[in-house]
Amino acid sequence: MRKVFIKTFGCQMNKLDSELVLGRLAGSAYRVVADESEADVILFNTCSVRQHAEDKVYSHLGALKRLKEKRPGVIVGVLGCMAQKEGRSLAKLFGVVDLVCGPRRLAELPSLLEQCNGSGPVVAVDRDRRSSHRAVSFEAGRATGCRPTRHRAYVAVMTGCDNFCSYCVVPYLRGAEVSRPPGDIVEEVRRLADDGCVEITLLGQNVNSYGTGLKPGVTLADLLAMFEPVEGIERVNFVTSHPKDLSRELMNAVASFPKVCEYLHVPPQSGSDRILKLMKRGYTSAHYRELLLMAREIIPGVEIAGDFIVGFPTETEEDFARTLALLKDADFLNCFVFKYSTRPGTAAAELQDDVPLEVKRERNQALLKAQEETSLRKRRALIGSTVEALVEGPSKRDPSRLTGRTRNNCIVHFESAGDLAGRLVKVRITSATPLAVSGDVVEE
Ligand code: SAH
Ligand code: SF4
Ligand code: F3S
Repeated sequence: MRKVFIKTFGCQMNKLDSELVLGRLAGSAYRVVADESEADVILFNTCSVRQHAEDKVYSHLGALKRLKEKRPGVIVGVLGCMAQKEGRSLAKLFGVVDLVCGPRRLAELPSLLEQCNGSGPVVAVDRDRRSSHRAVSFEAGRATGCRPTRHRAYVAVMTGCDNFCSYCVVPYLRGAEVSRPPGDIVEEVRRLADDGCVEITLLGQNVNSYGTGLKPGVTLADLLAMFEPVEGIERVNFVTSHPKDLSRELMNAVASFPKVCEYLHVPPQSGSDRILKLMKRGYTSAHYRELLLMAREIIPGVEIAGDFIVGFPTETEEDFARTLALLKDADFLNCFVFKYSTRPGTAAAELQDDVPLEVKRERNQALLKAQEETSLRKRRALIGSTVEALVEGPSKRDPSRLTGRTRNNCIVHFESAGDLAGRLVKVRITSATPLAVSGDVVEE
């Protein structure tokens, strides 16, 4: 048995990919280990969304040089988006990489690893973004029992992206949008439920355009309806939604299907219409505000999360003021803020990256500070009320306490003896921070 270690960078799709890879390998001649120094095969599943994400991988690879000198037989593989982006040049860079495998070729991993015999790097990437090597069977062949958490699972409903937001590298790396047939997805979810899974999160780069190209036609709202009869599944989530495709039909589905959670992740990216146009996002800030109003009207108790990019080329103080105003008005439960990072080959890379790093930092801080105020105010409002939480397990900070989440994705900490993971509990809230609320279980 060869020992395999994997480290994952990037988004939920990468986390799922790593699970699928380990599921495949564990089914053949491999055993998964949690410590890199024990492993015969070291895999990095990588992200290219910002330079910082790539730098982290480069520094890890640099650090492997010494290990490789001591144990030349160890196989080092770079998987995922950086592998697709850099291809063979990654193998040359440090002389430590034996395998480069893009996100759409991961199903071939067991045989690619067999080909690693020291006679030069094995490289599997797609040249054409339309080629769909990522056989649907990769998802369908999922091994149960390889999930990081037994009661929760990510489920890919589509891969790729055709939006080409001007700053974003994802469409070039994950390829063209391809939706999985609904029957396959429901079958996978049934198997997950039989294996103890109670919560699923449907994944897609642009999840609310699910169904494009499928015949007969199907929408994300149609798909959501199909999980209602699946016994064992209690909660259904989906990420990430694009504002331009957020339909009334989808909001009605969220409101009417009991299992679908009242939570939307809909990144606005900017509050300035001029910047949104340069970003090629296809909506205005007024349209985004209307969407939030509509969502709150249709879906009682809905919470919304967003992402913003600060320091996009040419962003002025005035543009930024509009972004800050949108963040405040949006009343997000959570918000992620990123400093613009030029991605070679994208449309925005033609523009000069003219906002100084110092200014990007200041704008980043200002947004985070405003969000912290909103986050705290919203969570304080829960003090005195009783919420229902799905228990995830011991809290990371304080393992003597348990952590769970409400249906609208608010983190809840509480004291409890016993292993309640995967169970629903009622918690009376007594205190709040910007990130979480805490309280006491009232009924188990
Ligand atoms: N498909 C998802 C997420 C894409 S990447 C979506 O469209 O919402 C996650 C986040 O990274 C994006 O929402 C965006 O805020 C940020 N991001 C993408 N490209 C970036 C870049 N070049 N620089 C900084 N942030 C970026
Ligand atoms: Fe990137 Fe835009 Fe596609 Fe999201 S929707 S992955 S930001 S191109
Ligand atoms: Fe990163 Fe690729 Fe996900 S670039 S954000 S790992 S799709």
